[in-house]
Amino acid sequence: MAKYRIACLPGDGIGKEVMEAAMIVLEKLKLDAEYIYGDVGWEFWCKEGDALPQRTIDLLKNCTCCLFGAITSKPKEEAEAELIPELQGKGLTYRSPIVRLRQLFNLHTNMRPCKAYPGNPLNYKEGIDIVVFRENTEDLYAGVEFHPIPEAVRNALRENSQPFRKFDDVSNDDMAISCRIITKTGCQRILRSAFEYAKKHKRRSVTVVEKPNVIRETSGMMIREARKIAKEYPDIPLYEANVDAMCMWLLKNPLDYDVLVTSNMFGDIISDLAAQLVGGLGFASSANIGDNLALFEPTHGSAPKYAGQYKVNPMAMLLTVKLMLDWLEENELATRLENAITQVVREGKVRTYDMGGESTTLEVAEEVAKYA
Ligand code: NAI
Ligand code: MG
Repeated sequence: MAKYRIACLPGDGIGKEVMEAAMIVLEKLKLDAEYIYGDVGWEFWCKEGDALPQRTIDLLKNCTCCLFGAITSKPKEEAEAELIPELQGKGLTYRSPIVRLRQLFNLHTNMRPCKAYPGNPLNYKEGIDIVVFRENTEDLYAGVEFHPIPEAVRNALRENSQPFRKFDDVSNDDMAISCRIITKTGCQRILRSAFEYAKKHKRRSVTVVEKPNVIRETSGMMIREARKIAKEYPDIPLYEANVDAMCMWLLKNPLDYDVLVTSNMFGDIISDLAAQLVGGLGFASSANIGDNLALFEPTHGSAPKYAGQYKVNPMAMLLTVKLMLDWLEENELATRLENAITQVVREGKVRTYDMGGESTTLEVAEEVAKYA
């Protein structure tokens, strides 16, 4: 029996192509794993009314971890229109499989490394090496939203919040509410992940990114917990930054930052910004880590415009494989893969279109495999 059972969910569009690229490299590395392919994505929404069928959820329950390609999502009305006729008008609603997986398996820690590999023509500056830790299940993404506002919700808010009274003459239908819910446990978990990572990898600092001067309760809770947890790591300085200022600082002085930690919404934004500093979607990898499962995915989507053309950059997916190897503690394989990626980027002979080259997705993967 193989040491690991890895669920492979290629999904839609270029998700399938980058998964092929991942397999070329994994084969070369001879990771002791069994790969079990699972169904996820648009095709299954259209045919079965579920983009994440129960059989795929069951598969994940029996796997060490999951490697995920990308999926297509569409707005509500469009999604309904593409269902097969037998499924139309049955009140099925499309829900994003990736958001569901994060909630179902409580994949609370999202980690996104943003490292400038030397010689990448897309680098904003050489030397950038930032890792973003984003809380992955709470905050504005918890799904607690109202429109129109139920009377009971309105009354409760009115009774308990003076500022809410300025909306007294707005009707329930003219108002929408999305709740930002943050828990102490959620804060502590993401902060601890960030500090533990910083300690293990001898990082220079941890910066907590929030907006406590305005969003006093939720951002305030994150900052207060950060200060407490920082005391357990006296060798690692904790910096505090407001999310808006952080966007400017990341452009101005990206080399000053190391590990960033934040809540879900701010993390979504900051990590896209940081990723763009080191090559954008063609280089952006991510890990979604829970207590019982971890799911690894490139940050990009299914890029319908390029689907089937084998044109996109597989580096995001190959860096995602590297994150998976790190998590499995296959350190030697992870290092071999990263060294191979570094070499291919530095040489610059085999590049996809986004880096100014003409090589295909699989040619880049073969080149990385050659050096791995
Ligand atoms: P996208 O990430 O799929 O592509 C946007 C553009 O970025 C592409 O047209 C291409 O120019 C570039 N790009 C993306 N990946 C690249 C790569 N590996 N190499 C080179 N260039 C690359 O985002 P878009 O177009 O907004 O969304 C397309 C579909 O993907 C939508 O249905 C969306 O809902 C879904 N999506 C899924 C995600 C996921 O699976 N986690 C994440 C983001 C979007
Ligand atoms: Mg995003």
